[in-house]
Amino acid sequence: MLSYRRAQPDDVQLYFTWANDPDTRRQSFNSNPISLATHITWFTGKLTDLNALLLVFENETGKAVGQVRFERTTIVDEWEEVIISLSIDATERGKGLARQLIEQGCAVCRELWGAVAVHAYIKPDNRASVRAFEQAGFRLSAENGKFDLPGRQTSSLVYILET
Ligand SMILES: CC(C)(COP(=O)(O)OP(=O)(O)OC[C@H]1O[C@@H](n2cnc3c(N)ncnc32)[C@H](O)[C@@H]1OP(=O)(O)O)[C@@H](O)C(=O)NCCC(=O)NCCS
Repeated sequence: MLSYRRAQPDDVQLYFTWANDPDTRRQSFNSNPISLATHITWFTGKLTDLNALLLVFENETGKAVGQVRFERTTIVDEWEEVIISLSIDATERGKGLARQLIEQGCAVCRELWGAVAVHAYIKPDNRASVRAFEQAGFRLSAENGKFDLPGRQTSSLVYILET
């Protein structure tokens, strides 16, 4: 069984390593490498952002094996969307941990934010992620271009865990 804790300032380097992991960059909708300065600003902001929930998961030896992040957005002043993202430490992949992180993370998120629907945006070729979200009860809702950038289209699968 994994345990979890909220991310803290000391985790800045850990998150930097995870964020720049090659597979994580490839599976992110903005795949550019992240500089340390950019990361520090981003991470520091997220720790105090009431609409962000950053959870670090640890195994029984205390090793941090991955992270789940939830971000809550308001659209047109009323409609809220909660988006989940996650990554597993490169040395801990392939052990079936992703489903546990998603399930435990969603339970914590709902304790904090109520019975919200949770959305995951996944690149179509990210089979491990698709499989893990399906195992955790998410269902494919749509394919869209939410993360399109000017001149660059990026399709994403939208998986939803309903309330
Ligand atoms: C996506 C990620 C979190 C999945 O974690 P993981 O430890 O690799 O996956 P798990 O061991 O938990 O396996 C999950 C399922 O995917 C399957 N799977 C793993 N790799 C796969 C692959 N390359 N192709 C197809 N299925 C795969 C596993 O067999 C398992 O399914 P099963 O229980 O039916 O056998 C992890 O690979 C990761 O951190 N990737 C980089 C960041 C990322 O892509 N984040 C998600 C963005 S949406």
